Amino acid sequence: MSYVEINTKRKKGKISKYIYGQFAEHLGRCIYEGLYVGEDSEIPNINGMRCDVVNALKELDIPVLRWPGGCFADDYHWRDGIGDKKDRPYMVNTNWGGVVENNHFGTHEYFELCRQLGCETYINGNVGSGTVQEMRDWIEYMTFDGNSPLANERRKNGHDEPFKVSFFGVGNENWGCGGCMTPEYYSDLYRRFQTFIRNYGENKIYKIACGANSDDTNWTETVLKKSGQFMDGISWHNYTFEDSWQNRGMSDDFDENGWYNNLVDVERMRKRLSEHIAIMDVCDPKGETDLIVDEWGNWYDCIPGTNPGFLYQQNTMRDAVTGMIILHMFHAANRRVKMANIAQMVNVLQAMVLTEGEKMTVTPTYHLFKMMKGHQDGELLDTFYDGKSYEVKGFSVPKISISASEKDGIVTISAANTRLDKDEELEISLDREFSEVSALVLTSENMCDCNTFDEPEKVKPIPLAAELCGDKLKLTIPKMSIAAITLK
Ligand code: AHR
Repeated sequence: MSYVEINTKRKKGKISKYIYGQFAEHLGRCIYEGLYVGEDSEIPNINGMRCDVVNALKELDIPVLRWPGGCFADDYHWRDGIGDKKDRPYMVNTNWGGVVENNHFGTHEYFELCRQLGCETYINGNVGSGTVQEMRDWIEYMTFDGNSPLANERRKNGHDEPFKVSFFGVGNENWGCGGCMTPEYYSDLYRRFQTFIRNYGENKIYKIACGANSDDTNWTETVLKKSGQFMDGISWHNYTFEDSWQNRGMSDDFDENGWYNNLVDVERMRKRLSEHIAIMDVCDPKGETDLIVDEWGNWYDCIPGTNPGFLYQQNTMRDAVTGMIILHMFHAANRRVKMANIAQMVNVLQAMVLTEGEKMTVTPTYHLFKMMKGHQDGELLDTFYDGKSYEVKGFSVPKISISASEKDGIVTISAANTRLDKDEELEISLDREFSEVSALVLTSENMCDCNTFDEPEKVKPIPLAAELCGDKLKLTIPKMSIAAITLK
């Protein structure tokens, strides 16, 4: 039995809804096939966006969608993706499988997708192979309301009103695929490029500088010191199994070691996150720059027989459990982490949705995001868990990862049982009485179970028994499961 105390009077800051953000890149079958099939497809679609996928994603209340990359962003020239589709030039997607990109999904299609999903926009600009002029023109094309050649071109292409750009990223991974730059060089470029990200009319753009990869705190420190005053946020990327690049293991075929190694990687990420925040606290003691974790997730070997450049993998309870721990990590770091974008939304890495032709299925990670919805913009609550943990490879892994928040008088609690061998009884004490409880659990018989096109509902949430007596709540979190509890 584990004990938990939740103090609803001790609020610990808002959990930004943007932590539940998504990312869609021109990579493999994320955009094409996964989200966009074109108006002439036999797959039911609205303006080219497949209805089954959009309808499923709408259930997640996605706050923001990052696009067009990723590495693709620093190879992307926005002018290739506007105007009549038959006139749009083709390009080679050199980063991802060397396939030919027809640019049928471009700026207008992205805004249409965000409109259908009901989410805000986060566009990543091209610093690596683009120019300042190209970037400034894109902003004017999208957001200027007046009478300028660029705004009129947007109108000619079918959009009279300016688009709303909420967030703009100045380059992606410019230490690697975005130009192999040093942090000093990038910082200077950042200062120059960001000058031309202008706010037209009502559109106020939140500027995000390219940040570090995993443990590279020197990048974070240098960029913040040299250019911190010109940015609203700085990004950070962290994938699991990054340290075993050559042999990450399969997403749907692993043993107990594969399960626990993933948990160790999550704890390594926790350490790295706190190191980055510590550096930020030194360089920016007033807390004026946010940390934007705009790529995170589990990265395994691709499914055999698929294009290795397409990063197509399956998704199991392991992804749901580790995903919940990482989201809890972001909750706990809410004073700095203001946005996060899991990689990626459809058919790539730790996806929400998988498709094959006209078929689709949602993944355990999709259920995780759906079950966690109640936390979006909730106030984090002081939560004490009696701290039972176990050691793997020198890291202390919690048996139960738990987080609680409150919004509009409703308390949401999420909990993950990280063990493969033992259910855990929880006794939760609250500091006020509640009269209604509802709980869901996501678990499966075997750790490698996943949803396939033939068995799309193998892993899905079911009700969880919970005993509420005023200010006491008792429930059992089954081994390798995640649970979400709502109290009113
Ligand atoms: O998400 C896949 C790739 O991972 C992105 O394109 C890149 O930014 C990162 O290295």
